[in-house]
Amino acid sequence: MSVFMRRARLDDVAPIMTLERATFANDAWSEQMMRAEIEGEHGYYLVAVDEDAENPDERLLGYAGLYAPAGTGDADVQTIAVAPFTRGIGLGRGLMHALITHARRMRVARVFLEVRADNPIAKALYDSLGFVEIGVRRGYYQPDGVDAIAMRLDVPEAVTRPAASDAPTARRQVPGTATTPARGIRPSSTGETA
Ligand SMILES: CC(C)(COP(=O)(O)OP(=O)(O)OC[C@H]1O[C@@H](n2cnc3c(N)ncnc32)[C@H](O)[C@@H]1OP(=O)(O)O)[C@@H](O)C(=O)NCCC(=O)NCCS
Repeated sequence: MSVFMRRARLDDVAPIMTLERATFANDAWSEQMMRAEIEGEHGYYLVAVDEDAENPDERLLGYAGLYAPAGTGDADVQTIAVAPFTRGIGLGRGLMHALITHARRMRVARVFLEVRADNPIAKALYDSLGFVEIGVRRGYYQPDGVDAIAMRLDVPEAVTRPAASDAPTARRQVPGTATTPARGIRPSSTGETA
């Protein structure tokens, strides 16, 4: 498996629609909408793919999209889905991080999204990324009549290094106390490594 992310292209629309329809049974977008989103001037759509997958149906692992009109300072997460066979290994988080990174690059200050009130998994992902609830739209998702929870993220500064307190503590080896030589290094008779 070799997973990577790239901008979505129009030739991704067919597999995206297969996953879209399987994922959002009652409120899937039409193919025309998806195409317009991916081609749109302000859209930033990513796919996570495994080009080595033997089964062509397993090449698309997930997709996510951001609507980020230049100069407004705001953006919206439009959608995100990860294929059921590969959920729970960090792809959804990776896609969200990539959207937020793009928002930061576009000088976006606030990212908005809406999540179904009956979707605790997606809600937990957004909570963990720092999104906060800003309102509820009653019965927003039709035909199910499920509420939408509106959320906002104030885009944080990029963190490219862990804080000093988060860094792993270097273990200091007391000379002469090693019991197992490091793999592949044969100790010489003087105790020094070759
Ligand atoms: C929501 C979704 C995109 C998450 O993708 P994923 O790749 O499975 O998620 P990750 O492995 O990156 O996990 C990210 C976080 O999601 C939450 N999460 C993932 N699986 C979970 C589970 N089974 N139970 C509870 N929380 C879960 C956790 O907060 C997790 O963070 P943690 O691992 O640090 O606890 C995926 O479940 C999905 O496609 N769902 C259907 C479509 C959908 O609901 N889209 C959102 C529309 S608003």
